[in-house]
Amino acid sequence: MCGIVGAVAERNVVEILLEGLKRLEYRGYDSAGVALLQADGTFSRTRRIGKVQALADAVDASPVLGGTGIAHTRWATHGGVTEDNAHPHQSSDRIAVVHNGIIENYETLRSGLESQGYTFTSDTDTESIAHTVHSLLKTNETLLGAVQQAVARFHGAYGTVVMDKEDPSRIVVARSGSPLVIGLGLGENFVASDQMALLPVTRRFIFLEEGDVAEITRRSVSIFDANGAPVEREIIESNVEHDSGDKGGYRHYMLKEIHEQPTVVRNALQHRLVGNDIADNVFGEGADAIFASVKHVQIVACGTSYHSGMTARYWLEEFAGVSCNVEIASEFRYRKSVVLPNSLLITISQSGETADTLAALRLAKEIGYSSSLAICNVAGSSLVRESSLSYMTRAGAEIGVASTKAFTTQLAGFLLLTMALGKHNGMSSDTSNEIAHALHSLPAKLEETLTMTQGIEDLAEEFADKHHSLFLGRGDQYPIAMEGALKLKEISYIHAEAYASGELKHGPLALIDDEMPVIVVAPNNELLEKLKSNVEEVRARGGIMYVFADKDAHFKGDDTMRVIDVPHCDSPIAPIIYTVPLQLLSYYVALIKGTDVDQPRNLAKSVTVE
Ligand code: AGP
Repeated sequence: MCGIVGAVAERNVVEILLEGLKRLEYRGYDSAGVALLQADGTFSRTRRIGKVQALADAVDASPVLGGTGIAHTRWATHGGVTEDNAHPHQSSDRIAVVHNGIIENYETLRSGLESQGYTFTSDTDTESIAHTVHSLLKTNETLLGAVQQAVARFHGAYGTVVMDKEDPSRIVVARSGSPLVIGLGLGENFVASDQMALLPVTRRFIFLEEGDVAEITRRSVSIFDANGAPVEREIIESNVEHDSGDKGGYRHYMLKEIHEQPTVVRNALQHRLVGNDIADNVFGEGADAIFASVKHVQIVACGTSYHSGMTARYWLEEFAGVSCNVEIASEFRYRKSVVLPNSLLITISQSGETADTLAALRLAKEIGYSSSLAICNVAGSSLVRESSLSYMTRAGAEIGVASTKAFTTQLAGFLLLTMALGKHNGMSSDTSNEIAHALHSLPAKLEETLTMTQGIEDLAEEFADKHHSLFLGRGDQYPIAMEGALKLKEISYIHAEAYASGELKHGPLALIDDEMPVIVVAPNNELLEKLKSNVEEVRARGGIMYVFADKDAHFKGDDTMRVIDVPHCDSPIAPIIYTVPLQLLSYYVALIKGTDVDQPRNLAKSVTVE
């Protein structure tokens, strides 16, 4: 959730570190800090509350120089948002540390270190890393040795980078539960919690594995596994677009990413959907053999990714005839569940680093799932590396904290998966052709749907002063209502709840009055008449409705019901199409309310802690 950047170079690295932090800022943005080893052998440390720009301004005002440095952008876990709690943390003016994750036994460590005479200046768990390493340097000749010994004392999750004033030629990094990637330069090397941070300086990366500790100098990278044995890790040439960190003229990343959807979905389908068939190995080598025996699918994910799993359940059961269960990863990982024979575990994640989803995957392997498929947007992420099969969503970098294009590309992937599993489960060629036809039309339909912007801008005005809202849908539109509600609450801070509309009369109907806007997603499908009855139940109680509907659904607007026409589309892609106006609605409501659209309060892009 926080962002880490580190560098060992001949040149001054402060600009590299700050640029890296800006690129990671979407992951955490409470406070930021940088520490450098200066040429005169002293530490310089600058920390600021707020965005990275506040730190950059401070560095501008009092410039610092140094070839070895570490930097961090924080999403607070232990200790409030204060300068004292911002990273880097130091020990005895010798050790500086940045850390992502949570050291769960920090209280025990802290009391032990205090009894050794260490004084803590923050409320963080991270400071105990700095003092532990410092204390172990008394009996270790090298920083590497001290860090290797230190990590054995930590329980919890960490990606950490440690710098020693007595040895400016190296930094030592350790990974367990929080990702770290080493960037290889010419006569200089780097580390970060995400390759995005380092794209301006290198495209050659080594993704550290669980338990790895590495020593990085200007000219060398030495990696040791969890047992302390030297290991070689593969060097990967990144093909992530260099300019993916730009807003491309849009006011916010979120708006840019909403508008990218036709293009990224087109890319996602290219060479995968060939005519009415799926190309080989779309889900990884050996997928076909695994799919042939799949009788049950268990999906685990969080947030928006969970909503795409919820949608996929309707498709997998209806079209492919495969039974499917969907569960929030943080629940799945902490309960005893029954593994049905011939089950495939599917994880969904934009980042591939979500702590709960990753833990759910690891648990699934322990309890007997023989195969796992990751539907993910980040190649080389932990989820992809630890799954037997993977499907890359090809959405491109998603920077806005509110997930948009990642969601719609996940759904496109699930329609392909429905076809692939259906093939082995007696899916008729009519059904398969229907899905393929719908998918071919999807990019153009998304383009058409984006032309709804003007109408939605006007509609957003009516929401801006509301405090609560309800979203309703039925069938595969129920998860889309959930996703619409999540988007609205996430970026506009308006309380929003979603219900399967048939559930309304079992309680939520009591909430209806003219201060409660009710948003309905209503494509023209077999549940339309049922949905219309639910709409009437709300109207009869004075509720104000906003119905996103297919023209052919023949909703008649009046004072109590605004009908917003959504382009007609084939049924299988309707959940994807109806997502777009809801994304636009929350975006424009947030814009009118003046909230921080790309970095909403209290949130972070990638939730790498529990
Ligand atoms: C959605 O807008 C969120 N930012 C959030 O719910 C997100 O989808 C969730 O944290 C899961 O992230 P992942 O897809 O990277 O695993």
